[in-house]
Amino acid sequence: MKNIPVVMILFGGSGDLAHRKLYPALFNLYQKGLIRSNFAVIGTARRPWSHEYFRQQVSDAVHETHRGVNEDDIQDFVSHFYYQSHDVTDVDHYIALKKVANDLDEEYKAQGNRIFYMAMAPRFFGTIATHINDQSLTGSGFNRLVIEKPFGHDLQSAAELNRQIRESFDEDSVYRIDHYLGKEMVQNIMPLRMTNPIIKNIWNGDYIQNVQVTLAESLGVGTRGGYYDGSGALRDMVQNHIFQIITLLAMPEPTDLTSDAVHKAKQELLDSLIIPTAADVKKNFARGQYLAGEDHPGYLEEDQVDPDSHTETFVSGKVEFKQGPLASVPIYFRTGKNLKEKNSRIDIVLKHMNNLYGNAHSNNISIVIDPVSEIYFTINGKKIMTDGLRRENLDYRFSEQEMAKVPDGYERLLHDVFVADRTNFTHWAELKQYWKFVDAVEDAWDKQNKDGYAPEQYQPGKFGPASSDKIFDSETEHWIYN
Ligand code: BG6
Repeated sequence: MKNIPVVMILFGGSGDLAHRKLYPALFNLYQKGLIRSNFAVIGTARRPWSHEYFRQQVSDAVHETHRGVNEDDIQDFVSHFYYQSHDVTDVDHYIALKKVANDLDEEYKAQGNRIFYMAMAPRFFGTIATHINDQSLTGSGFNRLVIEKPFGHDLQSAAELNRQIRESFDEDSVYRIDHYLGKEMVQNIMPLRMTNPIIKNIWNGDYIQNVQVTLAESLGVGTRGGYYDGSGALRDMVQNHIFQIITLLAMPEPTDLTSDAVHKAKQELLDSLIIPTAADVKKNFARGQYLAGEDHPGYLEEDQVDPDSHTETFVSGKVEFKQGPLASVPIYFRTGKNLKEKNSRIDIVLKHMNNLYGNAHSNNISIVIDPVSEIYFTINGKKIMTDGLRRENLDYRFSEQEMAKVPDGYERLLHDVFVADRTNFTHWAELKQYWKFVDAVEDAWDKQNKDGYAPEQYQPGKFGPASSDKIFDSETEHWIYN
């Protein structure tokens, strides 16, 4: 791999995301030679750490995820890390940071290239962006901004954040992270759709009854009650991950595989997104809150959660487009905390067809994203020795050896930032459409709350509240994975 000269400034250098994901991912990229002699990382956070202490933290993070690596390699890698204690609201701190960045740029011959990574509390994103601009922290080479979710709280705040960011960065230099776009099976959606006649030829409303996207989690909100109570499942999971998956499933085929062509195809689809009315939300959406289980409290008893909260820990609903191969095909989704199991999956349910045997099951195509990487077709076959039909799965699951080769989503996405490939990042135009949809649902729920409705309480260990089984357009439709 080509060695990319760069100084990376990481806001949130003492944080959990940096420790668990970013340092191990950077180490892998270092081992592969993408960053080698000409890179430096400046970690910033409020704590008064020394360079040495910071390097020890980075080294620990690498040791926690890697076995049997060469100690000299780790030592050389961490020697590129510098710590700068930083209060994001203090202008003087940006002036100091700029000096450190310029000095390191010279020392490492980084050619004025800068990557800014915002990996801290989202309420500071706008402030940081503003100070990067007014203190001219950008370098004379390329300047890229990587930004974590959530990108805003609604369309209005997202637009304001975008305005602040765009003062220093072109849209082409902004990398909005959605870690689901770094997952192997999410990246597999396009090739599966486009290279297999058996899939490509049925990818339309003539054959597909509905699509079902499930991002189920088996854990509760844990220590994140404060953040989560102001967010809820719709903003936390649907506005980003679920919508990105749906977009990949429903967009027209791009004219080629460049980032521009892929985003153009996404945009074409999203311009035809149907924004639900309050009546649609009542009919096609369900929301819930988990009750206590054997080993966890109910949502309303969680730390930092308002005991009268109406925040949903589960949501299911319907998305529909006017254009694209799946125009008018209902795309149902569901996601929530404390559900039956951790399972991220897509089930494509084909329409029944008349046949001489009667009771055939629907054919389904299932793509499992997590915890395993798997694709399977559910088909009908003959029961042995009798005339009846039985269901069979034609299954391809990644082997353990294959799984071991799959890089973590963050490694893949960071790699893409270094090589300036924006294919798997969210563009502003897409985000805007996602927020319009989410705002419409939130508005409808606010009205429902005023009328005395609240999320339905659900027992943990299931796939959500009973009302989630009634969101379908027709009585013959149901969740096929339970
Ligand atoms: C994050 C959400 O974006 O995705 C979390 O904020 C959620 O609430 C997580 O737990 C799920 O990601 P994954 O990769 O574990 O399915």
